[in-house]
Amino acid sequence: MTALFTPFSLKDVTLRNRIVIPPMCQYSAQDGVPNDWHLTHLAQLARGGASLVIVEATAVSPEGRITPGCLGLWNDEQARQFVPIVEAIKAAGSVPGIQIGHAGRKASANKPWEGDDHIFGEAGWDTIAPSAIAFDDKTLSKVPKAMTVADIQRVTADFVAAAIRARDAGFQWLELHFAHGYLAQSFLSPHSNQRTDEYGGSAENRGRFLRETLRAVRKVWPENLPLTLRMGVIEYDGHDEETLSEAIELTKGFKQDGLDLLSVSVGFSTPTANIPWGPAFLGPVAERVRREVGIPVSSAWGMDTPKLAESLISKEQVDLVMVGRASLGNPHWPYYAAQVLGVDRPSWTLPAPYAHWLERYRPTVDAA
Ligand SMILES: Cc1cc2nc3c(=O)[nH]c(=O)nc-3n(C[C@H](O)[C@H](O)[C@H](O)COP(=O)(O)O)c2cc1C
Repeated sequence: MTALFTPFSLKDVTLRNRIVIPPMCQYSAQDGVPNDWHLTHLAQLARGGASLVIVEATAVSPEGRITPGCLGLWNDEQARQFVPIVEAIKAAGSVPGIQIGHAGRKASANKPWEGDDHIFGEAGWDTIAPSAIAFDDKTLSKVPKAMTVADIQRVTADFVAAAIRARDAGFQWLELHFAHGYLAQSFLSPHSNQRTDEYGGSAENRGRFLRETLRAVRKVWPENLPLTLRMGVIEYDGHDEETLSEAIELTKGFKQDGLDLLSVSVGFSTPTANIPWGPAFLGPVAERVRREVGIPVSSAWGMDTPKLAESLISKEQVDLVMVGRASLGNPHWPYYAAQVLGVDRPSWTLPAPYAHWLERYRPTVDAA
């Protein structure tokens, strides 16, 4: 038995293996409403054998979208259109998850393939953040409005309302997007938070919005279902030990507040970060968080070759491996991984209409 294909249970949810589809924006919605693109994309990934499919960053309010094409959960029509997606993922034997978030100062942007920069003028919108500091002076240069305490409370309430809609649509796994330089991460990071009130300054204060939001969501998210969050625990900005230690202390508090798993990622709070891109570069970071906090963790970024994924799980660096871009290239990545790892009857990772034909089939070898 491989570690990668060992089931994993958290609360009342059991994942059939350790391979997860991470949230990946599709920039393909109108007014935040999911459509056929999202349905076919997500169903296909579920059919490919992943144990958990997490829907892309889904905005808790219109201003919280990264781009005009991002999904939302701020109204009932959006929630209704998620139901067939939830059902399709479940029908494929996978667990439906969703990431809800607010893009903060990185909102009001063009799609990545249309510039990835801020939209100024009527097609865009005003952005909000802990402090009136733009991300950079080139692509994401819009200066956000510094949030009042009433703004902060409103966004927390928006997270709660979106969590209720996610729950009622049938999602079984909720991830709060507290990563990647979006609103919550921008509270956490001194790069973007220079407040002098109870939401700025000390690590405890910079974590206050995150903790208040987690606590508020925990009250409405079912106790028997996993409540998780994704956070950048490191920025690669020269202050890494301090940032990581703060994140670990904060996560200990989150655990007391009912957090079930942390998805370990990078902060992306500053354009001057020096990120050591490479295979599974976050593995040791995730392992430290897992060990020091005593909480299950998932992670991503180049953990996408079968043997590497297997070793990350077997060495207990992470509990779940998220395979993003490689799954876009090959939606049946779990089947491929099972073949590479020599899993007995790898075709079992696929639904019967595929598995039956692949049971004894070996690809024709190119004669050349
Ligand atoms: C197209 C695309 C969209 C993404 N959208 C999100 C997102 O909505 N939320 C998020 O937390 N990360 C997002 N990410 C980051 C992925 O979740 C993942 O961390 C990243 O792709 C690294 O994993 P990989 O090396 O396996 O691709 C996105 C990545 C890609 C490629």
